[in-house]
Amino acid sequence: MRQAMSVSSQAQTIPRTMAAMQLTGHGGVDKLVYREDVATPRPGPGEVLVRVTATAKNNTDRKAREGLYPTKEKGDVTSFQIGGAPTLTFPRIQGADVAGRVVAVGEGVDANRIGERGLLDFNLYPDERRDLNLAPDYYGHGADGGFAEYVAVPSAQFHCVDNPALADAQLASMGMCSYQTALHMLTSAKVKAGEHILVSGASGGVGSALIQLCRILGAIPYALSQPDKAQALRELGAAAVLDRSDMAGFTDRVRELTGGKPIDAVMDLLGGEMTDHFIDSMIFDMPQRSSYPRLSIAGASSGNESEIMWTRIYLYQVQIFGVSHGTREEAEQLIEWIRDGQLKPVLHAAFKLSELHQAEDYFVNRSSNFLGKIVIVPDAQWSEHGAPFALPVSA
Ligand SMILES: NC(=O)c1ccc[n+]([C@@H]2O[C@H](COP(=O)([O-])OP(=O)(O)OC[C@H]3O[C@@H](n4cnc5c(N)ncnc54)[C@H](OP(=O)(O)O)[C@@H]3O)[C@@H](O)[C@H]2O)c1
Repeated sequence: MRQAMSVSSQAQTIPRTMAAMQLTGHGGVDKLVYREDVATPRPGPGEVLVRVTATAKNNTDRKAREGLYPTKEKGDVTSFQIGGAPTLTFPRIQGADVAGRVVAVGEGVDANRIGERGLLDFNLYPDERRDLNLAPDYYGHGADGGFAEYVAVPSAQFHCVDNPALADAQLASMGMCSYQTALHMLTSAKVKAGEHILVSGASGGVGSALIQLCRILGAIPYALSQPDKAQALRELGAAAVLDRSDMAGFTDRVRELTGGKPIDAVMDLLGGEMTDHFIDSMIFDMPQRSSYPRLSIAGASSGNESEIMWTRIYLYQVQIFGVSHGTREEAEQLIEWIRDGQLKPVLHAAFKLSELHQAEDYFVNRSSNFLGKIVIVPDAQWSEHGAPFALPVSA
């Protein structure tokens, strides 16, 4: 039986301990340990305590767990340390994109927030800047996140989203790790209405966000994906879908689809050997262009190294933008678009928190029709927030 605690200035009684999935070190899924006796966090000054109803999974959970963020020596097992020192310490509760309800507030936060349903802006911002984020880090990495029953986060970053039509699991699936990254990729490349944009990794969390955001900005997204997913991607907003398993005639297919115009900007989530093909799609007919070719890079699902001739970059004046997360302004803009229904959830399935290991396996060995996000729901919240989105029993 769990003990209860009373937190000052709160209307509700919060249990002293909670269920959580703790990451105990770099390595395989065996490093994830489910416990029911983890101390429930208390909200500090300026924070709210959120009872988690759903937290989306991101690729970064796996990459951080496996230590796949080397920036100096190839093969280093390491994670984000952009601010100078590693911030991932163990045990750590992962899970960046949290939806839930405010159940308590810390000093300086209006108690009227208690009861609000909201979505977390997952960033651990390095400073108060609204238009710049120079040292990206996040809840679930540098501080505990949402693979738990409760999480304490800054009140200013837990944004109320009370649309009744949007279930909590769907709200979590629209979390900032994917959507803010996608928006920052587009804003970095100064994507404009009417431009032809190539979206790689199109069926994933960031890719499906990119397709929708292109449409909001008035740009025309071309999805690079797999044939099984083509119809769903067109329904999401893709003008056409190119098969990533057949890159031999890639530029010719782009030419056919665009009526001979080069792609204006590429959103590269793949890297590896794919990036050179992406450059081809932008430079095959330079006189037809009205702006520089632009390449936004935010992921490396196909490979962390690409061999590209420097002459291709500078002679064709390809502008390259490295993107990690985004800014407070972008997060707030996205929340507005979620509130007014301009963005749609792309939710593949929900799993119980105690079954995160199975969810990780499912995510890595995904079927060819997998689209969008997986969310993790605390076991105690399962019947209300998870069960409606569970996989069919035969899956
Ligand atoms: N920089 C940042 O701030 C940031 C933030 C979030 C994510 N990321 C990174 O961005 C990438 C995508 O993240 P995500 O969350 O969208 O991941 P995701 O949901 O796992 O989607 C990745 C998609 O990439 C495609 N893909 C996977 N493996 C591939 C391969 N070997 N070759 C070619 N395509 C492959 C698949 O789409 P199709 O089947 O449709 O081709 C897959 O659905 C990851 O590398 C992630 O670490 C970076």
